[in-house]
Amino acid sequence: MAKYVINTLNRKSKINREIYGHFSEHLGRCIYEGIYVGEDSSIPNTNGMRNDVVEALKKIKIPVLRWPGGCFADEYHWMDGIGPKEQRKKMINTHWGGVVEDNSFGTDEFMELCRQLDCEPYVNGNLGSGTVKEMQDWIEYMTFDGISPMAELRAKNGRKEPYKLKYFCVGNENWGCGGNMRPEFYADMYRRYQTYVRNYGDNKIYKIACGPNSDDYNWTETLVKIAGRFMDALSLHYYTVPGIWKSKGSATNFTEEEWYITLFKTLKMDELVTRHGAIIRRYDPDNRIGLIVDEWGTWYDVEPGTNPGFLYQQNTMRDALVAGINLNIFNKHSDIVVMANIAQTVNVLQAVILTEGEKMLLTPTYHVFDMYKEHQDAELVESFIETKTIGTDKNAVPNLHESASVDADGKLHITLCNLSLDESYRIETEIIGKKPENLSGRILTGKMNAHNTFDSPENVKPVAFDKMSIAQNGLDIEIPPVSVVSITVE
Ligand code: AHR
Repeated sequence: MAKYVINTLNRKSKINREIYGHFSEHLGRCIYEGIYVGEDSSIPNTNGMRNDVVEALKKIKIPVLRWPGGCFADEYHWMDGIGPKEQRKKMINTHWGGVVEDNSFGTDEFMELCRQLDCEPYVNGNLGSGTVKEMQDWIEYMTFDGISPMAELRAKNGRKEPYKLKYFCVGNENWGCGGNMRPEFYADMYRRYQTYVRNYGDNKIYKIACGPNSDDYNWTETLVKIAGRFMDALSLHYYTVPGIWKSKGSATNFTEEEWYITLFKTLKMDELVTRHGAIIRRYDPDNRIGLIVDEWGTWYDVEPGTNPGFLYQQNTMRDALVAGINLNIFNKHSDIVVMANIAQTVNVLQAVILTEGEKMLLTPTYHVFDMYKEHQDAELVESFIETKTIGTDKNAVPNLHESASVDADGKLHITLCNLSLDESYRIETEIIGKKPENLSGRILTGKMNAHNTFDSPENVKPVAFDKMSIAQNGLDIEIPPVSVVSITVE
């Protein structure tokens, strides 16, 4: 019997809804086919956006969408993607598969997508190969309300009103695909470029600097020291890659050892946000700067037979656990993690949605986002679960993982993961400061490599969870192996 204590009287940080954010790049079939099919497509769409995908993303309350990349961002020249579509440049997407990019999805289409999704746009600027003027003009095009060349251009393209843009990042992975810079050099470049990222009218931009790759603590320290006062947040990228050397591992055909390797590597996120967070706070005593994990998720070998540059992979119960653990970690660190964006929304890496022609399926990861959505904008509460170590010698992991929050109506939301492949656990839950009266819950469970296919899209989906009851001090819960559970206590 594991002990679990939730203290609803000890309210901690607000869980920004943006922690449940997404990332979409001009990569493979994410934007084209996955989201945007064009107005003339036979696939039902609104202004070119797939209705089924928009509807599914609205259901999980997508709060923010990052675009246009990724590595693509530092090669993207936004002016190529505006104006009459037939006049837009066709070019090679050099990073991703060498395919033709026809620029039919550009700034105005992205803003239209965010309008349909009712989410915040998060635009990633080009520092690697773009000019300061280009970045300055882009901000003016999107947000300036008045007489100016860019506002006029926007009006000519059919949009008189400025857009609202809150989140803007100055470059992507500038330590790698975004220019192979040293942190000192990027920090100075950041200081320069961000100067021209202006606030027009009442539009206030939240400026994000390109942060480190995984555990590059020197990058964070150097950047915050040199440029901290010019940023609102910095980003962090960390992927869960189970394999090493030549193969990243198969998305569906993996061993029990690989299950635990994957979860072990996922849990590293806790250490990363803790240590990067501590460095930031050392230079930011007012707790002003946030950490944005704007690329996270699993990265496997592509599905056999698909373009290696498209990063298309399947998604199993293992991915569901990876999502559940990461989201619990972000909740627990919501005092510094202000946003996170899973890579990537549709058809790329740990996608929440896969499409094939007019068919669409929801992945196990999608269902985790659905089950966790009640945490959005709720208050994290203190909680502690007693765990035991399972897994293998090299890849030891805790058997259970959790987070808990209280929403504006006083409802308690608990999300729990059982990382074990074969054991179920009874959890004696003490709830301080709240007497449970009504319980409801959902569970996502299945074999470790269970997944949805276009022929069988509902193999893995949440069902009602009833292995719980009200006990003297709280709840009794029994959680089966390989599962993610969400519980609401009223
Ligand atoms: O998400 C795929 C790629 O991973 C992104 O383009 C890049 O930022 C990262 O290396």
